[in-house]
Formats: sequence, C-alpha cells, structure tokens
Amino acid sequence: MYRIGQEEIDAVARVINSGQLFRIGSAYSEVDNFEKELAEKLFVKYTLFVTGGTTALIAALIGLGVGPGDEVIVPAYTFMASALAVTAVGAVPVIAEVDETLMIDPEDVEKKISPHTKAIIPVHMLGYPCDMDRIMSIADKYNLLVLEDACQAVGGSYKG
Ligand SMILES: Cc1ncc(COP(=O)(O)O)c(C=O)c1O
Repeated sequence: MYRIGQEEIDAVARVINSGQLFRIGSAYSEVDNFEKELAEKLFVKYTLFVTGGTTALIAALIGLGVGPGDEVIVPAYTFMASALAVTAVGAVPVIAEVDETLMIDPEDVEKKISPHTKAIIPVHMLGYPCDMDRIMSIADKYNLLVLEDACQAVGGSYKG
C-alpha cells in the first residue's frame, strides 16, 4: 500500500534538526514542499496538509456545508473515521452496503437516499477504487455532494 524509506527518514530528520517545528513563521517549511510536490503528483492546483485523515474529512465536510439536519451516506466497510467525521459536524451517517468488490454499493446508495441526504462518502479501501462513474451519476441525478475518503489510496488513480 505504501512504502517508507530513507527519503522519509531524512525529511523528518531535516525538520527535527532545523528546530522549526511550526510551519508558520519559518522560512523553510518541509510541509510547504510536500504540499507542492503532492499537488504536482496528483495533477491538482492545491493541497492542504492537516493533522490527519479524520481532520481532513471534518474540514472537507464543513467546507461543503454539511451540518445538523443532513444525512451523509458512508459504506459499511471503512475505517470508523469516515462515519465519525459526519457525526463530528452534527450530521447523521447512513450506512450503505458494500458489494462484491468490498467498496460502497452504488445500488444500495440509491436506496439509502432520503430528502435529508446531502452527500456521499465513497471510501477507496486498501487502495482499491470505488465505482466512481456510478457514484457520480447518482450524485448528479439527486444533486448530492461527493467527498472521496482517499486516506487509504493517496496517489491512486482511477481508469488511468
Ligand atoms: C479510510 C480511512 N479514513 C479515515 C481515516 C482517519 O485517518 P486518521 O487516523 O489519520 O485520522 C483512516 C485512518 O486509518 C482511514 O483508513
């Protein structure tokens, strides 16, 4: 799934040796470099590092305007943070079944949509991609937001 080696050890050592543990106010930030490199690798304009996956999901849900009164569909097979992030913003996680791929089942997602549904969180477990074509077409049909939990699939690709 991921490989950690000397390059990562050296990067951590550079931060500790610099004595600058905060990105704000320091001339050289290893995190700034990491964000830039990751954005290039992922072909996106921006990346923003936070303290972890749960925080990223909470920040994204808040950014999408998900909150009290909303339901968010999450898969039955995931790390608990996918559902806990939904509760952290005051919304209700609604569990959808997984299919034979062990990823969220688009057919069951459609069954779980209610008038309160605001978003779907497909989770790409163990680096395996969800059926994003079908998820996106359901989201379009019902005007729902989609937040991909790629905590276990950073750097992965879908259809190339
Ligand atoms: C699919 C998934 N989502 C969210 C998280 C939460 O990430 P963190 O433990 O960094 O908060 C994890 C962590 O393993 C995860 O596997």
